[in-house]
Amino acid sequence: MALKGFPPLRPITLKDPYKMVFVCLGNICRSPTGEGVMQHLVKEAGFENYFLIDSAGTASFHTGEPANSKSRAIAEKHGVQLLSRARQFRSADLDEFDLILVMDNENRDNVLRLCTTDEQREKVQLLRDYDPKPGDGEVPDPYYGGLDGFENVFQIVKRSCEQLLFKLKSQVSV
Ligand code: 4NP
Repeated sequence: MALKGFPPLRPITLKDPYKMVFVCLGNICRSPTGEGVMQHLVKEAGFENYFLIDSAGTASFHTGEPANSKSRAIAEKHGVQLLSRARQFRSADLDEFDLILVMDNENRDNVLRLCTTDEQREKVQLLRDYDPKPGDGEVPDPYYGGLDGFENVFQIVKRSCEQLLFKLKSQVSV
């Protein structure tokens, strides 16, 4: 099981960027927000070449779609562009990425079910483990609700990504 609050750490270099994938159910609301926000934060910090950031969904029903229009509107209001196209999470991602950031317990169960080694399991962490205001530990699914739910998701994701990047920055060798 993943250690709460501790990403698997290693030296991060230009030759060996740190790879993160954000995972939700549909890959059109929460995980594209994670991808866009983290991309924005690493760029702002001048570290965009040290990190590779992606997102995926445990389900395939929105494959190929851009991020949800409400997710994009809220992100743009905060100066963040969401440019992802939905894809399904695959077993190869368990080895490809250093850190797999899931949005809720169901996402975590679905990803853990694909794991075959402890090394893979250790990479799977709830994004909200990094939220200074962790609530119930999950990033709530905003899909069937109004704009305020999408704003809430954005704020949770932003707080969590800021905290996570703060930890990871100490591993960057410039
Ligand atoms: P996401 O939100 O997992 O944050 O992308 C959802 C998107 C689509 C559906 C559910 C949640 N859906 O049921 O189609």
